[in-house]
Amino acid sequence: MRDSYGRRINYLRISVTDLCNLRCKYCMPEKGIEKIDYNEILKLEEIQSITESFVNLGVDKIRITGGEPLVRRNILKLIEDIGKLTKVRDFAMTTNGTLLKKYAKNLKSAGLNRLNISLDTLDKNKYAKITRNGRLSDVLEGIEEAKKVGLGPIKLNVVLMKDFNEDEIENFVNLTKDEEIDVRFIELMPIGALKYWSLNNYISNETVLKNIEGLVETETVDISSPARYYKLPGGKGRVGLINPISCKFCENCNRIRLTADGKIKPCLHSNDEIDLKTPLRQGKDINGLIGDIIKNKPKEHNLEDGDYINRNMTAIGG
Ligand code: 5AD
Ligand code: SF4
Repeated sequence: MRDSYGRRINYLRISVTDLCNLRCKYCMPEKGIEKIDYNEILKLEEIQSITESFVNLGVDKIRITGGEPLVRRNILKLIEDIGKLTKVRDFAMTTNGTLLKKYAKNLKSAGLNRLNISLDTLDKNKYAKITRNGRLSDVLEGIEEAKKVGLGPIKLNVVLMKDFNEDEIENFVNLTKDEEIDVRFIELMPIGALKYWSLNNYISNETVLKNIEGLVETETVDISSPARYYKLPGGKGRVGLINPISCKFCENCNRIRLTADGKIKPCLHSNDEIDLKTPLRQGKDINGLIGDIIKNKPKEHNLEDGDYINRNMTAIGG
């Protein structure tokens, strides 16, 4: 289905929970977030039903996000049910990787195709610090398990932070030398309660290009992707740069988001939300509503104007 600007909207990102087993400094306040009332969160069957409506309207690419999606109870059931939708050609998940050792195999057999794994440092102490007590070994073992069961090619998401991981850029880039893995550097976005923390620790992705010699820009395969991709000469994987602020990719945007509490966000960088949960629970036909939401997707975002998102990232899922 196309929106009023002619963009084909075929990519649905579903946040299945706003909870997480980590407390990354740029994402979660130390105390964690206020737990939303159980009733406010969509049931798995409700997520499934909304997903099916989107798929019938032309969505063929789905990503499960959070919070941390693997902390949602019975998540495998949802993955299995979405995995059965034959019109979905690309089915992925974004995870912090800490629970993958346990889940990777079942995710694969339930029909998931690929994983993006968030990992901001390869140093165990720094990992514990930025996640406020996560264990790096859990993620590394999870990544190994994911590769073993064929949930690849894996994309690693690395959020760049001033005075934190600038010195690890080269180590991350080197991971792409021998393996078919994409390492994607993401600029910190000023979002939710942590927006000032993020503004203070922001560094531009250009730092990667300045620090690493020989990166060659590759041809754009997917124009709707916010990442620009590069390769080391002879490298197997790619190095991606994602500039959500300094670069606009709205023109080719193909995505729409469903939050854990049942709101549609037609644009990440806008506070506009449309409630689907209430009409769904009232038994109303949501197909027409979803069609209207797609049609009215805003043209572009405008972070430059200080128009920052209020909702926390955990509720949107990136
Ligand atoms: N800025 C940039 N990236 C963020 N993420 C979470 N919060 C932010 C932020 N404020 C990243 C996570 C994950 C992806 C879903 O978004 O690290 O990789
Ligand atoms: Fe959890 Fe991801 Fe937020 Fe870290 S960035 S606290 S892993 S949701």
